[in-house]
Amino acid sequence: MRISIIGCGYVGLVTGGCLAAVGHRVTCMDSDGERVRGLMGGHIPIYEPHLDELVAAARGEGRIEFVGDIRLAVENADAIFICVGTPPLENGEADLSAIEMVARGIATQSRGSKLVIEKSTVPVRTGEQLRRALQVYGRASDARFQVVSNPEFLREGSSVCDFLHPDRIVVGVDEPPAAEKMREIYRPILERNFNCPVHRGACPPSDAPHFVVTSINSSELIKHASNSFLALKISYANQLADLCERLGGDIEEVTRAMGMDPRIGPQFLRAGIGFGGFCFPKDIQAFYRLAERAGVDFMLLKEAERINKERIDHFLEKAKRALWVLKGKQVAVLGLAFKPHTDDTRFAPALEIIRRLLAEGASVHAYDPQAMRKTQALYPAVHYCLDAYESATGADALLLLTEWPEFVELDWKRIHGLMVRPLLLDGRNLLVPAKMRELGFEYHSVGRPD
Ligand SMILES: NC(=O)c1ccc[n+]([C@@H]2O[C@H](COP(=O)([O-])OP(=O)(O)OC[C@H]3O[C@@H](n4cnc5c(N)ncnc54)[C@H](O)[C@@H]3O)[C@@H](O)[C@H]2O)c1
Repeated sequence: MRISIIGCGYVGLVTGGCLAAVGHRVTCMDSDGERVRGLMGGHIPIYEPHLDELVAAARGEGRIEFVGDIRLAVENADAIFICVGTPPLENGEADLSAIEMVARGIATQSRGSKLVIEKSTVPVRTGEQLRRALQVYGRASDARFQVVSNPEFLREGSSVCDFLHPDRIVVGVDEPPAAEKMREIYRPILERNFNCPVHRGACPPSDAPHFVVTSINSSELIKHASNSFLALKISYANQLADLCERLGGDIEEVTRAMGMDPRIGPQFLRAGIGFGGFCFPKDIQAFYRLAERAGVDFMLLKEAERINKERIDHFLEKAKRALWVLKGKQVAVLGLAFKPHTDDTRFAPALEIIRRLLAEGASVHAYDPQAMRKTQALYPAVHYCLDAYESATGADALLLLTEWPEFVELDWKRIHGLMVRPLLLDGRNLLVPAKMRELGFEYHSVGRPD
């Protein structure tokens, strides 16, 4: 089956790269000419572990190509994955204009039969609109379209592994043959019949992925419902952390024991400065706005969002309590990305914290292993450092804002010696409080006794 991907961002490149890696021929298209030229020259515009090798290998074998013209992506494709962005509008609803534009492009350039797959995260009933747009704008041709919803559950930072070893593949269809075509596309992954570029033939044992066939509406709902639920879990842990701070108790002890209950599970039960990224903040908003329009007041989600926003206030209050005055203080920031192993800073809590520090007159000396290039354009006033030690030199406080594992391994004794005042605010509960205090740090974290 010849596959095309429209939109070469995180999801598009991982989808295209992985489908090529398991044996398909893939054409990837993006409307950003600079991005396409870079990709044609072998430059991957995002940092995502294993993606470079995967795409380079597929290019070497002639299984992946990059184009800037939608006609080239559509004319020979049997299946077209739409992977464009669906950012939030000012009112919180999803902006579907890129999806609509792509639908028009597909409709006008298609001949014959095409499977059109929504991979972008979209509100329920987008499939209906998509089908209508394809019919209306494709009415002059002989093209026939089958619309499928196939939401993506990958996690940035481990997305190649997640795509190749999913726990479930959800396909929303309104006619059974479309589900069979999707099964065909995913067959190597479902049957684990490919050379895994991540584990190099030694994949850890795991259950075979579920292939879940639903209606298109259910499939669209599954994605929003899953992300919103995970966001709820994080906010639950964060509100518990507030309680621990007020009443005594250690959030790490509490959530660790809670997570041992298989009905609860340990994941996404971590307290800290809250969730960010291109999914949770916008998806939770889009989901409750969608519910509102349907006459359902999904207060639970609004609360989760409110609690999340409060994290930044709470954290900065702690910093201010400790520092007294922010104006004129030198603050070291470790971590800019919204999570480790990615260079993605979209809606990253670290950026909001930096914005407020700068607004209050502090000078910020930041370091992140991958995300500095993307932050530089947004915050030119920040001093970007070569490593954590440079950022700590002369600092009145150090804020740890992304839980990169390498930050645990830093020579903290050396950092202590480099700082003007050894004040450490750990927004991710990454470090061991007793150890940091033993080294002489004034150490504050989230929901743990000071
Ligand atoms: N990033 C994630 O972790 C993740 C995970 C699951 C689902 N999603 C969803 O997948 C979708 C894409 O997310 P992303 O993070 O890859 O976004 P992104 O911003 O990284 O990539 C989107 C790409 O689409 C391109 N594009 C925009 N309009 C276009 C058009 N009209 N024609 C062709 N290309 C166009 C952009 O140039 C960009 O390269 C979103 O709906 C998101 O919610 C994201």
